[in-house]
Amino acid sequence: MTKTTNLANKVEKQLPAELVNFMWVAGRVAASQGQSLYLVGGVVRDLLLGKPNFDLDLVVEGNAIELARKLAEIKPGEITTHPLFNTAKLKWNNWSVDFATARSETYAKPGALPTVTPSSIKADLFRRDFTINAMAIYLNPRRYGKLIDLYEGRKDLEQKLIRILHKKSFTDDATRIWRGLRYEQRLDFQLEETTLKLLKQDLTMLDTISGDRIRYELECVFQEPEPEKVLHRAEELGVLSKLHPSLKGNSWLEDKFKAARKQTSPNLPPFGLYMALWTYHLSTEESEQLISYLRLPKTVAQALRDSSAIKAKLEILTYPELSHSNIYRLLHGFSPSAIIANSLTTTSPIAHQHLETFLHELHYVKPALNGNDLIRLGIAPGPQIKEILERLYEARLNGKVTSKQDEEELVKGWVDNKE
Ligand code: CTP
Repeated sequence: MTKTTNLANKVEKQLPAELVNFMWVAGRVAASQGQSLYLVGGVVRDLLLGKPNFDLDLVVEGNAIELARKLAEIKPGEITTHPLFNTAKLKWNNWSVDFATARSETYAKPGALPTVTPSSIKADLFRRDFTINAMAIYLNPRRYGKLIDLYEGRKDLEQKLIRILHKKSFTDDATRIWRGLRYEQRLDFQLEETTLKLLKQDLTMLDTISGDRIRYELECVFQEPEPEKVLHRAEELGVLSKLHPSLKGNSWLEDKFKAARKQTSPNLPPFGLYMALWTYHLSTEESEQLISYLRLPKTVAQALRDSSAIKAKLEILTYPELSHSNIYRLLHGFSPSAIIANSLTTTSPIAHQHLETFLHELHYVKPALNGNDLIRLGIAPGPQIKEILERLYEARLNGKVTSKQDEEELVKGWVDNKE
């Protein structure tokens, strides 16, 4: 890595021209208001690493809302402000930029949300999680592009180290334990020695964090390209057992996660699928404990519950002679994530085949005729319509009919036989 303290060139080369232009203008406007403006956090880290990241976080020494309002006049877009926190968000075209007023934080007790006070960039950077996330780039015209690296973040980037800024960091905010593992595994870095020691020492601080905040951290983990690495490290360091003693981050999970990504590519597997795989070996009671502690969203909770329900039917699904309508009856109504989770985990090739047939074929089967069509064919409105539609469904599923014409003939045959 070449040492330059001015990153204007990197900014220009690595960020889209529209964002570069925006920051340039923003720096000028801030200066005209007598304020100082900085680009901070993850985007600075990723600029130095040469990784794409277009999430601009700007910090203002002064008043973020005042600056964002002025910029919204120049660049028409949508502005949202939070006067309580003195922050603002500006959106235009597909871009979104966050503005925050430089602040320092104090924690009334471990795990509580911080009390914030307007402050300098120095204090704002010091309140952050890791040195590699605590760098800034000055955007005012006087020294546009200057790197502000007060806590040796750049050195840690070069040495591939994740280091906290002060020894109370994990006590103040134990979500940083999960964040640290995430960065370590994403970037292929190491937790620095003292940081690692304090992380282990402060594991109990995870108990001070609400289930909602841990769920958010897990959602972030599952956005990573290889979340299994983070879970593996979390198991190794005792972080997983703090969440639930039965959760694992082993090679079985690694295989399943890899297979899940293949199945949903180019999209990442949804949260519900990852969670259904991760909790696959938990008992119903243990799953319910996690669902309620993490306050999992309805669809994710459903994926976990459906997954256990399907697991209970796996033995029947190992019968080779099941008809398509049998398979349909066994599986319809369950969340697709739960079906995929079982398809990826079952050791029976036949059950796997049935689950795949449901997912890729039966799930989409629908008769061509609807209730109105049946009335048009001369069937009297009433409960028999539902009954005939169900029989048609079955005929479709089992491949007895494949077109609308086939269905009409079949229905006519049933009616004629009745008469
Ligand atoms: N931050 C922090 N402590 C936290 C959460 C966030 O100090 N518990 C700070 C870090 O400086 C971080 C910045 O706030 O860089 C923005 O947070 P976030 O968007 O979560 O992190 P990024 O680094 O921007 O993004 P990512 O983790 O996806 O790379």
